[in-house]
Amino acid sequence: TGYVTLDTGFVNTASCTSAITYIDGDAGILRYRGYPIDQLAGKASFLETSYLLIYGELPTADQLAEFDSRVRKHTLLHEEMRQFFGGFPRDAHPMAVLSSAVSALSTFYQDALDPFNPEDVEISTVRLLAKVPTIASYAYKKSIGQPMLYPDNNLGYVENFLRMTFGVPTEDYEIDPVVAQVLDMLLVLHADHEQNCSTSTVRLVGSSHANLFASVSAGVNALFGPLHGGANEAVLTMLNGIHANGGDVNAFVERVKKKEPGVKLMGFGHRVYKNYDPRAAIVKQAARDVLERTGGNDPLLELAMKLEEIALADDFFISRKLYPNVDFYTGLIYKAMGFPTKMFTVLFALGRLPGWIAQWREMINDPATKIGRPRQLYTGSPERAFVPITER
Ligand code: CMC
Repeated sequence: TGYVTLDTGFVNTASCTSAITYIDGDAGILRYRGYPIDQLAGKASFLETSYLLIYGELPTADQLAEFDSRVRKHTLLHEEMRQFFGGFPRDAHPMAVLSSAVSALSTFYQDALDPFNPEDVEISTVRLLAKVPTIASYAYKKSIGQPMLYPDNNLGYVENFLRMTFGVPTEDYEIDPVVAQVLDMLLVLHADHEQNCSTSTVRLVGSSHANLFASVSAGVNALFGPLHGGANEAVLTMLNGIHANGGDVNAFVERVKKKEPGVKLMGFGHRVYKNYDPRAAIVKQAARDVLERTGGNDPLLELAMKLEEIALADDFFISRKLYPNVDFYTGLIYKAMGFPTKMFTVLFALGRLPGWIAQWREMINDPATKIGRPRQLYTGSPERAFVPITER
């Protein structure tokens, strides 16, 4: 026990063994259960990918149909839970609403929370996958003062989410198949990423044998931060800021290079990818396609492409191996689809959900798992004698 190594940020420390996701940061490789991301994106649906991550194999058509119908049966929220949304302030950030609502699921399903009962874990898995899109769309509806729509279980996973988000009860909602298809693909790209900050959080919380909902709500909070999932929102805020200041991309890059406090090139850099982020390449192409389709020649896309071009040719970024990550272009796509900036990180959470679940299940079933309990190197005062308050 006497020997403790310091690894701030866990740069070199593996916290577990895992058979779910493989990343080679130098080669720009990402695989789920052995399948390269570029073979899954656009070919496997999000639910199919969720099945793969959670159960370890691609489903047969029958297995997928059965899984899909189980998920569809659980999309409704408890009526009492719907009332939660009325209690949050109108301008509440939907990530805060999402984490609160996921945490609240523990209060509604108290009879099925045992981490070591496979039936409980299975029903919690399905409930989470089914209810998070409903919660996410309700958080949005609340923020714009529109009534919440009940799910329509005749619709597919993403289509149902789009309708609950953008539909109104007084009109039929026409789903744009291209928007649905691209959103589905973006969810696949986000579905897992081995031991990132939020997934590590889910595992750490779960290692104390907290239930799946409690663990995942902690993961949502970890994802909220701008260095992690919140980066997709931060990229748009950055691009809007540059645009409002006259679009001087070079001036912004100079501020980044001077390391002004709080000024970073958001959407750039990654702890593991030091060559390129294979997700970013797919997203960049999708951004072009969606923006062309929606007819919006968003000036922010031009700014983003210019920023990327300048950064990729600049020694500051080259020497630090900083490349665009998955978040650099996703915000522009979400914006073109009609999502407000505040919803971007919620979409990331929707995508990462099967990864959190798969990792939590792997953790709980791994006999080698111990409670996560890092050590520290103490730097405080040596022992000293207490001084009564009257003598201080
Ligand atoms: N802009 C400017 N400088 C940067 C950036 C950036 N985006 N990222 C890293 N650097 C610099 C950093 O200042 C450091 O410089 P120096 O060696 O002179 O001190 C060097 O590059 C190494 O960076 P680091 O902070 O030690 O790297 P890290 O592995 O601890 O951090 C990161 C990784 C993703 C948090 C960081 O690159 C970052 O803050 N990027 C911006 C936020 C972002 O886009 N996050 C999304 C990540 S991908 C999706 C996800 O995981 O959610």
